[in-house]
Amino acid sequence: MQPILPGAPWLIAHKSMLGVNKPNKITLNGQDYVIWQNSKGEVFAIDNICPHLQAPLSNGWVCQERGTITCPFHALEFDGKGRLHRTEEKDTQPITKSLELIISNDCIWTYAGFEARLPIPDLHQSINNEYEFIGVAGEKSIQGDFLTTLMVNYDYNHQNGTHKDLFRITSCKVSSFEENGYYAKVAQEILRADNTLGEIIKNPALGIIPKVMNNTLEYAFPSTTALFAKSPIGNVAQVHILYPETENRTKTFVLFYAKDINPVMKLLFKNSFLQAAGKIIEQDTETVENLYPRQKPKIRLPYEEIMFYAEKLYSNW
Ligand code: FES
Ligand SMILES: [Fe+2]
Repeated sequence: MQPILPGAPWLIAHKSMLGVNKPNKITLNGQDYVIWQNSKGEVFAIDNICPHLQAPLSNGWVCQERGTITCPFHALEFDGKGRLHRTEEKDTQPITKSLELIISNDCIWTYAGFEARLPIPDLHQSINNEYEFIGVAGEKSIQGDFLTTLMVNYDYNHQNGTHKDLFRITSCKVSSFEENGYYAKVAQEILRADNTLGEIIKNPALGIIPKVMNNTLEYAFPSTTALFAKSPIGNVAQVHILYPETENRTKTFVLFYAKDINPVMKLLFKNSFLQAAGKIIEQDTETVENLYPRQKPKIRLPYEEIMFYAEKLYSNW
């Protein structure tokens, strides 16, 4: 495939998603990689195709002492630089490609071998300076192309349909939209009706989400949409990540952060917050996966310029 947005920094995983000494497969722009973290917390990624007889290395296992990935077919071992491991001799030349990673605040970024066209967004650093990481939610591979999936995050009308049920949204207004190149900021006011007791019992976070929500959203195109919201128990940042797996598959997950939440509340609400974030992703996924092929829209809704701003960045890349 033609790589999508080559030179963009992609956030492919948070360290907490990888486990320890466990192979994981990731796909970025049509290429499969095996990625693993050793017990020291170092992370490596190499081409997932074994250079011997092309077995998927991600089906193999990690050797704890040597830190190598072992192929499931004939058990050859490779280190994080793509070098074959041999006991008798030191083979120093890589025989398979490794993926260059940049790790920052436990987030794993890569340019996948392309020359960087944008820096890793400051947004992540500023969130990490202020907030505490709570967990990852909603990890999903969406059957949908990158642009369609991305545009949903810049769409200030889909709350009324896609997310109506869970949050009982009655109105959504944008009070400001500032764009600065690849960065943008939106202030949003959402009004919602009461959830039923049954809904609150199933998901206690719904009981503390205010009826009037004044949220801020910050965008770092193309990887990141961060939603900042206030709740009576503290502030949260829900950071939506996207990257293109293939032409018609897009990976997403949410990094959830909180600040000024007391430890008891955090313990009580942690799972509930993550569950709500996961539900949002499910609803967006369902929308994207059920769309018919795109045509020129015959109707315009308010605030759609925000969505078209993202589309323009994409097509002018
Ligand atoms: S295919 Fe990987 S070791 Fe043979
Ligand atoms: Fe959404």
